[in-house]
Formats: sequence, C-alpha cells, structure tokens
Amino acid sequence: MKRRYCIAGNWKMNPPGAAGGLLLEMREKLDEITAVDLIICPPFTALDNARQLFQNFRITIGAQNLFWEDKGAYTGEISASMLSAIGVEYVIIGHSERRQYFDDTDETVNKRMKAALKAGLKPILCLGETESEREDGITFEVVRKQFRGALEGIEIKELKDFMIAYEPVWAIGTGKTAKPADAQEVHELLRKLLAEKYTFEFSESTRILYGGSVKPDNAEGLFRQPDIDGALIGGASLSTVSFRQIAEAAEFLTTNEHE
Ligand code: PGA
Repeated sequence: MKRRYCIAGNWKMNPPGAAGGLLLEMREKLDEITAVDLIICPPFTALDNARQLFQNFRITIGAQNLFWEDKGAYTGEISASMLSAIGVEYVIIGHSERRQYFDDTDETVNKRMKAALKAGLKPILCLGETESEREDGITFEVVRKQFRGALEGIEIKELKDFMIAYEPVWAIGTGKTAKPADAQEVHELLRKLLAEKYTFEFSESTRILYGGSVKPDNAEGLFRQPDIDGALIGGASLSTVSFRQIAEAAEFLTTNEHE
C-alpha cells in the first residue's frame, strides 16, 4: 500500500527579517499541487501570519518546537496550547538541531510529544543517526532507542495523524543524501517498530518522511521507495521553485500510480 505523500518544509531560523513575502510566494506557487499534503513550518514569529495567509488554501502550518509545560515562568518558551490557539496543526519534535544545540534528549522529546498530543497538535517526530554512529554500524540501534524513548507511555489512541521523519544527521544541510536503498532500510525498520509497539494497520497508515538534503534531483528516487512517504525539507524549502519541484515529484508518482 502506498500512502498519500506529505511534503513538509522546515524553514528553521529563516528567512532573516519578515517572512510575509516568502509565505505569499508559497501560497501562489503551491496552490495547484493537489495530490500531496503540504506543510510549512516557519519560525514562531511567522506562524500567525502564515495561518491567516493560508486560510482556505491547501498548505497547512506547523511549528518547529514547543515546550512541554502549558504555562508559567519559563521565559522564552512556547507551549502546545499557545500553538493550537492560533491554529497551528503540526509540530516538529526532536529535530537533530534541537538535540545537538539545545540539549533535547529522548526524555524531553517524549515530554514534548505528550504535550503536543494533549493539545491536539500533530507531531512530526524526528530521529536519525550521526555520521560516526553510521560508521560504527549502530544506525538501527540508535533509531530504535530514539523511537522507544520518544513514544514511551504513549498509546495508539492518542496518535492521530502523527508522522515520523527519519533524518540522518550527516545528511542534514550537507548536500549528502542517503541513498534511497539505505534510507528505505531504516524506514522499513521504523515501520516494523510501529507494528510491534502498536498495530500492523497503524504502521501501514502512518507516514514516514525522509529528511536530509532532499532536492528536486534526488526526491523522486527517494519517493519511489515503498516506505518513504514524503520529505521534511530544510534548505530546499526556502525557495518556491525547489519546494514546488519536490512536491511535483511526489505528485507525479501519485498520478502515475507509482509505476
Ligand atoms: P536540509 O534539512 O534539507 O537542509 O538538509 C532537513 C531538515 O533539517 O529537516
């Protein structure tokens, strides 16, 4: 079974200055893409504007992080209920940059997951191995541990429309993409883990995105893999041209029935 593709853009801390121009361009250039789901995750400061601009359009918005407490004396933090109150639907959780620079651990990722689900947000859970972990041959172990940690104590009934993004750290922002077959191997493992922890049906219907230097010229090869259901895109999501071309690659495969 092939799932509906999802193409998500993670703008990270971009663009500098106001994001309105890029949001408008995205709205204009992406509205004809109908056969795939599109998500844009701009910085917090642009979320409210994005929600207004994308109202009645096909693009859905997501945040890039959240804090697990609902309110209180946590200077600089944003809670799940604050995001859902302004109409945010998705939230990226456990991105490797958060793990690397802001001390996110499996435990804090789990807390963020629980907070997001409680507030009705749909998590995009990121996980993936570093270059040295891949070289040491422990990719599967690392991914398995991150998977278990993030989903500890979370039941299937809480996980509506949840997605996983497999993002090998060595491929993020480096121009080095995982070979489609290597990425597929990890996606297959994740699907097995979902089936083991939850149910086979759930594992089959949950989308697993690939992330790490996805570009228009490598997207189709990745999307052709049976367990790759779309992409989480950093750099190439900041240009309407490349973001659209990647979405078109998914649309092409959808309309050509994955031949
Ligand atoms: P990249 O980033 O496409 O620039 O490699 C992907 C990500 O970090 O989600």
